[in-house]
Amino acid sequence: MGVVRNRVEVMHGVNLDALGRREPRHYGDLTYKQLEVRVGEFGRALDLELRFFQSNSEGEFVEHLHRLEGMADGILINPGAWTHYSWAIHDALEIAGLPSVEVHLSDVEHREPWRRVSVVSDLCVATVSGQGLEGYREALARLRQELTP
Ligand code: DQA
Repeated sequence: MGVVRNRVEVMHGVNLDALGRREPRHYGDLTYKQLEVRVGEFGRALDLELRFFQSNSEGEFVEHLHRLEGMADGILINPGAWTHYSWAIHDALEIAGLPSVEVHLSDVEHREPWRRVSVVSDLCVATVSGQGLEGYREALARLRQELTP
């Protein structure tokens, strides 16, 4: 019998704690706490055990990634604006060495040109963007697939 791998760290980066009062046309109108609740429901439906982490400090975010060894089996990551330039987060995600899926609420491919660049996508098995909250369901399902032997 294989070991069950179902622990997913859901990591949100800079400014995502301000959901609910940030451009609803891009990010929807849920607050960050409401998003956690809804994503938690998606996780339960997929038999995943989710833990949530959000920080506006790049250093804390990096250190959290360092601490994941033995604590999580996969990562769902929305680094916010760090997505587009933080090689520090890229390297920390590489150190974490876990199957990861990148998710964005907004359609980063069709906004400002600088949002088209992601420095973490090469480390992720999939990227889901532009589907708002629903995108998290798809991203978790993709991770579930990745964690299932
Ligand atoms: C985001 C997209 C980023 O470009 C932006 O800086 C964010 C949120 C998203 O979820 O759509 O903060 O990651």
